Amino acid sequence: MDSSVARIALKRTLFAAAALTLVAMFSPLHAQESTYSSGKEAYDKLCGYCHKHEVGVGRSIQGRGLPAAFIIAIARNGLNAMPAFPESHIDDKSLELLTEYVNTLPAAPSPKPKGATP
Ligand code: HEC
Repeated sequence: MDSSVARIALKRTLFAAAALTLVAMFSPLHAQESTYSSGKEAYDKLCGYCHKHEVGVGRSIQGRGLPAAFIIAIARNGLNAMPAFPESHIDDKSLELLTEYVNTLPAAPSPKPKGATP
């Protein structure tokens, strides 16, 4: 490779590196990292105080095999009495971990029909 070609190649590499640095600087850093260390932590801190079975505000979302897209759409937008959880409350990665975690939890026991013998 003659030196002028090498110089152009070097300039291109430097330009690409500078461009990538700029992109990295202006994209939200938390897009890659997660606010919560696990889906469990996110669920316990953000959703559990309404959705846990012992609380019972809102339907159980545990162990129902709810699709991630459904849970995410409701979490991001809210639903009637349920508040929305924007990116500032929970990042995409944590929310994804949360959707996997709730499906590993046991489903709520189904209520016994009235008058059923124990
Ligand atoms: C302040 C209490 C509260 C918190 C906190 C809360 N929710 Fe809810 N959620 C509700 C209520 C109430 C409903 C029922 C809304 C309705 O159907 O009108 C609901 C409904 C839902 C549903 C729909 C369930 C179904 O079968 O229809 C999903 C999914 C859900 N919440 C996910 C979440 C997630 C994920 C979080 C945490 C990021 C969360 N919620 C935090 C109160 C809450």
